[in-house]
Amino acid sequence: MAVDFSKSKTRENLMRAFAGESQARNRYTIAAKQASRDNLYSISQIFLFTADQERAHAEVFYELLRGQTEQTIEICGGYPVNLAENVTDLLKSAVHNEMQEFEDVYPEFAKIAKEEGFDQASGAFDMIAKVEAVHGRRFALLAELLGKNQYFENPDGGEWMCMNCGHIQKGKMAPPVCPSCHYDRGYFIPVELAPYLMPELI
Ligand SMILES: [Fe+2]
Ligand SMILES: [Fe+2]
Repeated sequence: MAVDFSKSKTRENLMRAFAGESQARNRYTIAAKQASRDNLYSISQIFLFTADQERAHAEVFYELLRGQTEQTIEICGGYPVNLAENVTDLLKSAVHNEMQEFEDVYPEFAKIAKEEGFDQASGAFDMIAKVEAVHGRRFALLAELLGKNQYFENPDGGEWMCMNCGHIQKGKMAPPVCPSCHYDRGYFIPVELAPYLMPELI
């Protein structure tokens, strides 16, 4: 049954999603600052990378509201306050929010959009839900490694890349400072998480 978009639930859900994504972007930008303060530069970069994807999600949902330009859409929604001085706690909160979007919020929005006849919006909710699962799992891995003290150390041996100069260090731990550029240990990232790195190049 086709529904008039201006009276649809999907119109509100798109605005809810726009608000949620906009806030996620800011939460991660603020979390990135905390990570930087704790000398966790590479984790700060992952927060910023994710924040930029949340901005892109917000834009996808905002564009779907283009036909409503100059209107004000009232919504009722709940949004989390995740303030913590501890980066592991910030990561854990982020995991919770990402998985909630993946498992509950966006599948429900996609279903409603489908029922109302808005296939493009339904597809956007579905596709972005899958990205949130990737965000959630990556944050969970980071929280686990930090919690076990294994982000910069690996008793079985590992490799880390300096996010400043690209130097790759092998061993049981990342060095206190990069031997090449002398930047702090916090610039190192486990190679499994390093951007644009092709294992065959190492
Ligand atoms: Fe998102
Ligand atoms: Fe996300």
